[in-house]
Amino acid sequence: MSDWQKSDWRKKPRVQMPDYTDPEALASVEEKLSAYPPLVFAGEARRLKRELGAASRGEAFLLQGGDCAEAFDQFSANAIRDTFKVMLQMAMVLTYGAKVPVIKVGRMAGQFAKPRSAPTETVNGVELPSYRGDIINELDFSPEARIPNPGKMLQAYTQAAATLNLLRAFSTGGYADVHEVHSWTLGFTEGEKAERYREMAARISDTLDFMKAAGIDSDNAPTLKTVDFYTSHEGLLLEYEEALCRLDTTSGKWLAGSGHMLWIGDRTRQPDGAHVEFLRGVLNPVGLKCGPTMEVDDLKKLMATLNPGNEAGRLTLIARFGAGKVAEHLPRLIKTVREEGANVTWVCDPMHGNTIKSASGYKTRPFESVLREVQEFFAVHRAEGTIPGGVHFEMTGQDVTECTGGVYAVTDENLSDRYHTACDPRLNAAQSLELAFLVAEELSDLRSARANAKVG
Ligand code: PEP
Ligand code: CO
Repeated sequence: MSDWQKSDWRKKPRVQMPDYTDPEALASVEEKLSAYPPLVFAGEARRLKRELGAASRGEAFLLQGGDCAEAFDQFSANAIRDTFKVMLQMAMVLTYGAKVPVIKVGRMAGQFAKPRSAPTETVNGVELPSYRGDIINELDFSPEARIPNPGKMLQAYTQAAATLNLLRAFSTGGYADVHEVHSWTLGFTEGEKAERYREMAARISDTLDFMKAAGIDSDNAPTLKTVDFYTSHEGLLLEYEEALCRLDTTSGKWLAGSGHMLWIGDRTRQPDGAHVEFLRGVLNPVGLKCGPTMEVDDLKKLMATLNPGNEAGRLTLIARFGAGKVAEHLPRLIKTVREEGANVTWVCDPMHGNTIKSASGYKTRPFESVLREVQEFFAVHRAEGTIPGGVHFEMTGQDVTECTGGVYAVTDENLSDRYHTACDPRLNAAQSLELAFLVAEELSDLRSARANAKVG
């Protein structure tokens, strides 16, 4: 893209980005990061784009998930392993329901910067700038902690590199073996309250037994032993993104080297703004959050700007309206996509439209609302004859108490027990897996409906 330069975003209006107070310190960090190796390679980003293209046609399904915000003080091998593990379990259950490959994309190894609903926060009459994620400032409620510090970008890079290194090792080193993954899931379904999911788990066991009997095993079929696992984050802190942007010599195009897939948040998707300007120029697959305020005219402009070649897999529209609001908003966006003849992959984020304040004062999300939004998303696509291409969750492999509900129910009163998120409330491991079973049922119903329509 010869008319684009990685620094062009600097000429555009920017929102949700910090005003660094020390330009020299900032320049020094940018210079260092620019010399560091990229975290991902262009070939991987292109492969993910092809796979997302398949998801737009119903030939694959996206599972995107991870922390709302990765945090420096929660960085550990166990936390990475546990999120990876529960995502593999979810992917297996979804594969069974959808009967197509599930594309696994973590909100990991770079998900550090956060947009906020207000620029400042007031506690007991004291007003301070908002916390914007560990790559920018600190959660601690003190004036010093809230000053944006460019040096944090280097720590974020280091954490992202180490996270990705471990993810790559888990993906190919034997940990991702299909039999192991299924045995973990059986542990969940054997629980007293999870009987509803036992039958599907038993059918997956049967399938694996059959394959083994037929001679298809991890020993001779390497695809049962390894997975492709991709990383993603919101492309929010553009100084970091620009510094990690690299020219791909094979294609002559620019790669955002900080992660495989980057998305534009619901607060930073101004068609003439800095974030759209940066992301339009990189070759990676790009996500676009679509909330209730997404106007049809803006969507048209955004599709034309972000995917001028109408390439399949390039643009993923991540719908996040809130339970009860999908039928009001999704059809008008689907209609626009149809009228424009645009290739997009439709994905449901049932988290960001369903955040409430609990009676105990914690920010939470009821499991029922999360599930209901997913069901509404499927229902609209079924009615419109369009393809639900994936789901996007805020989740962790840890046993946290941040969202209420689920078969191993977290109640309002439990929220304070293990509420650890640095930002929005996440589904815990059991809630995540339960949701995967429920989404698998939707996918399986959709397949039956399609098959019936063909016969009828
Ligand atoms: C997020 O994904 O964490 C987020 C802030 O989402 P949205 O832009 O959709 O509000
Ligand atoms: Co969030």
